[in-house]
Amino acid sequence: MESEVPVRTPPAARGAEASLRKVDWWGFPALLKERDSKAYRPKALDERLRKERTRTEARLLVEARRLGVRTPILYDIDLTHHRLVMEELPGPTLKALIDGAQADPAALEAPLVRFGVAIGRLHAGGVTHGDLTSSNVIFPEGPGGPPALIDLSMGVRGPSLEELGIDLHLVEEDLKALHPQGEELFQKFLTGYAEGNPGGHREVEERAKEIRGRVRYA
Ligand SMILES: Nc1ncnc2c1ncn2[C@@H]1O[C@H](COP(=O)(O)OP(=O)(O)O)[C@@H](O)[C@H]1O
Ligand SMILES: [Mg+2]
Repeated sequence: MESEVPVRTPPAARGAEASLRKVDWWGFPALLKERDSKAYRPKALDERLRKERTRTEARLLVEARRLGVRTPILYDIDLTHHRLVMEELPGPTLKALIDGAQADPAALEAPLVRFGVAIGRLHAGGVTHGDLTSSNVIFPEGPGGPPALIDLSMGVRGPSLEELGIDLHLVEEDLKALHPQGEELFQKFLTGYAEGNPGGHREVEERAKEIRGRVRYA
């Protein structure tokens, strides 16, 4: 990667792990995501984790797309500087949709079913997301279109049943935290999930239930 990508504006966003800047990628609107160093981690471990997560994120962006799940196009990767450059997707996050539809859960049904289908396909293809919150789901064509997944750096290829179950558990927790009808919304998500993962959905749902029980009584 050219080390100096033209920056369009100051940082666009800052998550827990990374900073994102809007850049211009040969005329395409793009985001440069750079994984921050954490002072509390020993230097060698910090380097290794940042490099690994950058690499995992890049691989899974491509892998998910191969499985028929929309993701931002990966334009470039610079492991030395823990940077990715990816397509900047327009459109609201699932979180923004939920925050905007507190009084109208019916408007959330279609997006949640499609979100479920996407995660079902991902799981059926042997990939987990690993950090499945509604901030990591974007609807580039608006709530009527298919979702795109971002932020896959905690994902796993060839996951265990437990890792699959954790993905569903996180969706359930997130929906319940964000919306009074969270449980009903999760059922919509599961409808889509069964469609996307027809062979494996039962087993994964069972495991997610078990995880919920364990967390509750821990
Ligand atoms: N490709 C993208 N297109 C549009 N917005 C994005 C894109 N990637 C990230 N964002 C926005 O930036 C936020 C943080 O990015 P994310 O990759 O989730 O970083 P973190 O690992 O810090 O959570 C996302 O919740 C989303 O709002
Ligand atoms: Mg995120």
